[in-house]
Amino acid sequence: MKITINQSADYVGKEVTIGAWLANKRSSGKIAFLQLRDGTGFMQGVVVKAEVGEEIFQAAKSLTQETSLYVTGIINEDTRSPFGYEIAVSGVKVISESHDFPITPKEHGTEFLMDHRHLWLRSNRQHAIMKIRNEIIRASYEFFNNEGFIKIDPPILTGSAPEGTTELFHTKYFDEDAFLSQSGQLYMEAAAMAFGKVFSFGPTFRAEKSKTRRHLIEFWMIEPEMAFYQLEDSLKVQEQYVAFLVKAVLDNCKLELERLGRDVSVLESMTAPFPRITYTEAIEKLHELGFDDIEWGDDFGAPHETAIADSFEKPVFITHYPKAIKPFYMPEDPDNEQVVLCADMIAPEGYGEIIGGSERIHDLGVLLERMKEHELDEKAYSWYIDLARYGSVPHSGFGLGLERTVAWISGTEHVRETIPFPRLLNRLYP
Ligand code: 4AD
Ligand code: MG
Repeated sequence: MKITINQSADYVGKEVTIGAWLANKRSSGKIAFLQLRDGTGFMQGVVVKAEVGEEIFQAAKSLTQETSLYVTGIINEDTRSPFGYEIAVSGVKVISESHDFPITPKEHGTEFLMDHRHLWLRSNRQHAIMKIRNEIIRASYEFFNNEGFIKIDPPILTGSAPEGTTELFHTKYFDEDAFLSQSGQLYMEAAAMAFGKVFSFGPTFRAEKSKTRRHLIEFWMIEPEMAFYQLEDSLKVQEQYVAFLVKAVLDNCKLELERLGRDVSVLESMTAPFPRITYTEAIEKLHELGFDDIEWGDDFGAPHETAIADSFEKPVFITHYPKAIKPFYMPEDPDNEQVVLCADMIAPEGYGEIIGGSERIHDLGVLLERMKEHELDEKAYSWYIDLARYGSVPHSGFGLGLERTVAWISGTEHVRETIPFPRLLNRLYP
């Protein structure tokens, strides 16, 4: 019977064959332990010389790292390993040998590992992070489907720049100029006017010369947009969504969290509601904490965000930022025209902003005025202005950065490990 490692529980006491790679091994004169992986999981194979005979034992003992093979044997429970099962090997058939695999069990530098990202992905740490990423994607679809949202796919090649024109990747679109999408938001607003509640999931691009542990050039965003929702309605969706993601990972990625050494007790308390403070209160708090380098009107840097997040146990919403540091589409607060109806969600433990969102201007006159202030070309945005022309309604939306969310929930220091093939300031390879 050919099975995969994650099916082991159903085959205890039975003889099976598993297609696998040799991740690692150790052996003595009488017994060899093969660390096997097959993509679905990691498992130990035990080869006992007295049981398999000299020939099979020697063949098993001489296997080299990352050789692919079929392993045959009986599945046994193994209470000492977190996985819970091992295979008592009776036969090994090599499919393809691997010699001098560059990534050995010893320590390697980050640049070396990043140069070998295509191979590094096989390691059990990277496997755990990608499984958590996958769970967050899966749970996102589940959450928004449960809540009655429709998945809509905005284009990647665009002629508009929702988040400002400085960070765009430019390309030719035959005879026209085009940009790689930095956010699907404007298209999602059009979709919300057609379908009510919508969400997208796709890659976005920022030609940003930032080299921090939170910045990627290409990253993935989940962007919900809701008609007839005001800021507070949107915040409720956001806190429920993020709490749902954390719970999904806690429920479905126990082994992975353990392998990464993640402290799950902090994650267990991430239930809605989340605390809220205004930008102005955050500035006051920073001054109390001794940050003299920031004034009202400045954008927060990473140390500021971390200091604010550290004052709370859960993710915190910072709301009502100054108008001058936010994009054109955010409406003024009717009670204070210096600030806009927006909120960022800051993750705990120094992982920074994981969500940016706001209400959207839906008044035609206000929109045109604001676009003029931002020197946006009305012709390029004519379709977007149509939304305010033809029966617009109050609406709100937000964007959750997948990689930062994976980094936080999995406890991974740098976002470069949370995407299979990271695009960084100095990295387009592999
Ligand atoms: O705050 P941002 O720029 O918001 C928008 O793009 C809105 N148009 C979204 C919306 O309302 N539909 O980006 C949203 C999130 C951030 O909170 C962060 O998690 C992530 O996207 N993000 C990045 N992640 C990795 N690398 C980068 N360079 C990122 N820039 C933003
Ligand atoms: Mg933002």
